[in-house]
Amino acid sequence: MHSQHYLIRHFSQVLPEDRENRLRQRPRTIWLTGLSGSGKSTLAFALERTLMDLGKLAYTLDGDNIRHGLCRDLGFSASDRSENIRRIAEVAHLMNEAGLIVITSFISPYREDREMARAIIGEERFIEVHVSTPLVTCELRDPKGLYRKARAGELANFTGISAPYEEPLTAHLSLDTSRLSLDECVEQLLSVLGMPKT
Ligand code: ADX
Repeated sequence: MHSQHYLIRHFSQVLPEDRENRLRQRPRTIWLTGLSGSGKSTLAFALERTLMDLGKLAYTLDGDNIRHGLCRDLGFSASDRSENIRRIAEVAHLMNEAGLIVITSFISPYREDREMARAIIGEERFIEVHVSTPLVTCELRDPKGLYRKARAGELANFTGISAPYEEPLTAHLSLDTSRLSLDECVEQLLSVLGMPKT
C-alpha cells in the first residue's frame, strides 16, 4: 500500500468544537441513494438552498458533476462505482472535518459501498436517506433518456434495468418523490438534521 511510504500524520491545533462554534452547526453528511431519475439531485440542491437560507453552510456533491472532474476516469462497472463512492466519501469526510454540512447525491447502488461510506464518514455523522421513488416513475420521467437507451440495449450496466440496485435496510429516512412534494421532502430532511423550519 502507498500509505506505508514513510507518511507521518500532522495534527491540527483547531478542534472540531472550534469549527462547530464558529459555524454554529454540527457537520453531517446526508447520503442520498436511489435510482437515476428518483429525484436525488433536485432534493439535494433544494436542501442545500434551504440550509443556506437558514444560515447554515452546506455543500452538495452530485453524481453528474463529480463524474466530470474528480471521478472522470471511472465508468459504471461494480468496481468503478465502488471507487467512485470511496472517493466521494473521503471528500465528504474532509468537508465534514472542515465543519460543513454535506449532501451527497449518487445512485450508490451497492449496500457494501454505502457501508464503506458510513465507515469513512463516521457513524455519528452519516445519515442515509433512501430516495425510494419506484422504478416505473423514474422510467416514465426518464429526464436524460437513459432508461429508453438501456431498454433498447444501447446502454449496458444501467441501474434498475441491467445492473442491480440494493435497497437500504437501515436508512434513517425514505422519501418517495412520486408521493411527496419537494417542500415535504425538504421538511423531513430538516427534521432528520434536527432543524425543522416550523
Ligand atoms: S454510482 O452508481 O456510481 O453511484 P453516479 O450517481 O455517480 O452512479 O452516476 C449516475 C449518473 O450517471 C446517472 O444519473 C446517469 O446520468 C449517468 N449514467 C451513465 N451511465 C449509467 C449507468 N450505466 N448506470 C447508471 N447511471 C449511469
